[in-house]
Amino acid sequence: MADLNVYEVLNRKRRGAPIEAREIEQFIEQYTLGAIPDYQMSALLMAIAINGMTTEEMATLTQAMLHSGDEWHLRNEYDFIADKHSTGGVGDKVSLVLSPWVAACGIKIGMLSGRGLGHTGGTLDKLEAIPGFNARLSREDFNRCVAEAGCVISTSTEGIAPADKKIYALRDVTGTVESLPLITASIMSKKLAMGASALVLDVKTGSGAFMRKYQDSKALAQSLIAAAAGSGTRVEALITDMDRPLGIAAGNANEIIETIEVLKGNGPADVEFVTRAQAQRTLVLSGKFDDASAAAALEDALRSGRALDQARAWITAQGGDAKIVDDYSLLPQPKTTIEVKAPQSGFITFMDTYQAGMFTVDLGAGRKKADDVIDYAAGVMFDRRTGDEVRAGETIARIQLGNAKRDAAELTKRFLSFVTFGDTKPEERPLIHEHLT
Ligand code: URA
Repeated sequence: MADLNVYEVLNRKRRGAPIEAREIEQFIEQYTLGAIPDYQMSALLMAIAINGMTTEEMATLTQAMLHSGDEWHLRNEYDFIADKHSTGGVGDKVSLVLSPWVAACGIKIGMLSGRGLGHTGGTLDKLEAIPGFNARLSREDFNRCVAEAGCVISTSTEGIAPADKKIYALRDVTGTVESLPLITASIMSKKLAMGASALVLDVKTGSGAFMRKYQDSKALAQSLIAAAAGSGTRVEALITDMDRPLGIAAGNANEIIETIEVLKGNGPADVEFVTRAQAQRTLVLSGKFDDASAAAALEDALRSGRALDQARAWITAQGGDAKIVDDYSLLPQPKTTIEVKAPQSGFITFMDTYQAGMFTVDLGAGRKKADDVIDYAAGVMFDRRTGDEVRAGETIARIQLGNAKRDAAELTKRFLSFVTFGDTKPEERPLIHEHLT
């Protein structure tokens, strides 16, 4: 293979001219080995962030990053195993509800998930609110949990897509996170390295999503699907709404409680609806269900209590205390709760969900630095959200404090700064905007 002329590749990408597949592959391989220094990779990342990539370049980048480490080829081990990925939001507990619910319908779920990023909550952080829950599984334990509980959610192991780990850390400090091809290659290299039979993507849109504008969310969904072409993993995407928190709870322990409530049939309607839609696509992708039989199986699993029993089995398989399902006092408890009252009567016309997420992170429910310690009891209960009618003085939110001592008046003022009130009910946004295949 011809030697890589790094300087020439950088120069070409800077001018917006194409780079060859061989050059992308060598660049990633040599960077992962440490033969290309961070400053040259940073230059390439910035040139890509500015000039974009063709679909072919992006597909090659994704493949090169996924080949940089272990490849699990899970679909070769199981008759069918599904994965699910969300681009992240506030109160997004869909993976937690979906996993045991789908498993209760006889379809296996295997997920390598992430921690909170920016203003969004992390599935693994939420699970670690459960006493004893182990989210750092070896490959052997991952398979054992699938065998014992039909579903598993674990952190990505060191061996999966090491190129992404190095590149993501560099993007974080070089202003190159927000780039469609780089986000696509980052997400899909990890997903395709795991190699599930099918992957359902939940691409969020609205003020609490990384892609706020609808067209940007759609472009990301299309890009993620395109990157999987020819991989053997069938990928579909649902573009779902993140212009208000999903459900009432945002935090960690409170989202576990809300998850269990949905599985008991008492959860917020929006969480159940959005999860049901993704669970239904997962069942249909298995080839064992059509839309009608998938909907019926999900309804039966929920109403019969089998989905809840599956959650007990799943928590137990990952070392957690399944008694939390029947006794929420076993979860970390808030020490103080501050009620936020509506300053006027009318409608909540807008809630800046990015700000709502940052507020929740600042309470200790997320991290601002990599080594911050999560306060699992901290969070917010959004009792009233965009579109709801409120009376002056009515409680619209409960701020839950864990270990931190905070000024109630200051927190209330900050909360109200991202909520807008008005006399007219705002136009309702659909919970599911589009389904892309
Ligand atoms: N999540 C990822 O894994 N990578 C990105 O680039 C963005 C979100």
